[in-house]
Amino acid sequence: MTGADDQPLDPPVRAERRPVSEAESRRANGPDWDRYADEYQATHGAFLGDIGFVWGPEGLTEKEAGVLGDVEGRDVLELGSGAGQCARWVRSQGGRAYGLDLSHRQLQHSVRIDDAVGVVVPSVQATATALPFADHSFDVVFCSFGALQFVADIEVCVAEVVRVLRPGGRFAFSITHPTRWMFADDPGPEGLVASQSYWDRTPYVEADEATGVVSYVEHHRTLGDWVALLAGAGFRLTDLVEPEWPADHDRVWGGWSRTRGMLTPGTAIFAAELG
Ligand SMILES: C[S@@+](CC[C@H](N)C(=O)[O-])C[C@H]1O[C@@H](n2cnc3c(N)ncnc32)[C@H](O)[C@@H]1O
Repeated sequence: MTGADDQPLDPPVRAERRPVSEAESRRANGPDWDRYADEYQATHGAFLGDIGFVWGPEGLTEKEAGVLGDVEGRDVLELGSGAGQCARWVRSQGGRAYGLDLSHRQLQHSVRIDDAVGVVVPSVQATATALPFADHSFDVVFCSFGALQFVADIEVCVAEVVRVLRPGGRFAFSITHPTRWMFADDPGPEGLVASQSYWDRTPYVEADEATGVVSYVEHHRTLGDWVALLAGAGFRLTDLVEPEWPADHDRVWGGWSRTRGMLTPGTAIFAAELG
């Protein structure tokens, strides 16, 4: 539905909604992002900026939003960091930011940009459901359209975030706005017609037409699910930002476009603090 949604379906895949495990999600999404990384960076790299922090296709920057608070001198972890653009921006603001991503190829792009711009994001290849860090290592954990919507075991992922955060630590993440799951993933007028239940949490799955092997997975949780998840893990929700589509912004990114963005939210940014 998002992230890799604008990639060509090659080899031919069957798109469906069906239950899928964490292991299957991970087995699919790691290699999928390895395949897609070069095209993703070529298509979106300039918009993201080598040292740039945008929260989503609307182009809202962390400089404008200030969701993370002052990061100077803070230990910061980005989940699903891709080529590390956001974490690199945090570094440029004096934060000690680290990256974590499932995809080896995405991390190779991160090293490429590190070398090109001279701002290095130390990064690790791992999954967001098993963070290779000691307890209480970070002041801030964030995720910009990164791992969260690709993870099946979201309770495990959030518990891991709680474990690595220090008391009072901040967790912020952007995801496809949950209401988008009511609509076809189409940037045109078709994408404005509600055709699927908002409450249907069945994951979106792409599987190889010939072999049935799952090649891409996204998971849906409603706004209420996210609030319950955060509250249940001991977080206090401090913000829910729904970026508006700028009137002069004409970029199409997968299912995001001006046509839809002027009428309906495409991105949700949650911010929460550990009690
Ligand atoms: C849409 S990209 C976002 C990357 C970056 N934040 C950006 O704005 O370009 C999603 C990233 O999440 C990563 N990812 C997917 N599932 C993951 C998981 N379980 N653990 C860690 N990273 C994951 C992908 O490899 C990919 O790099």
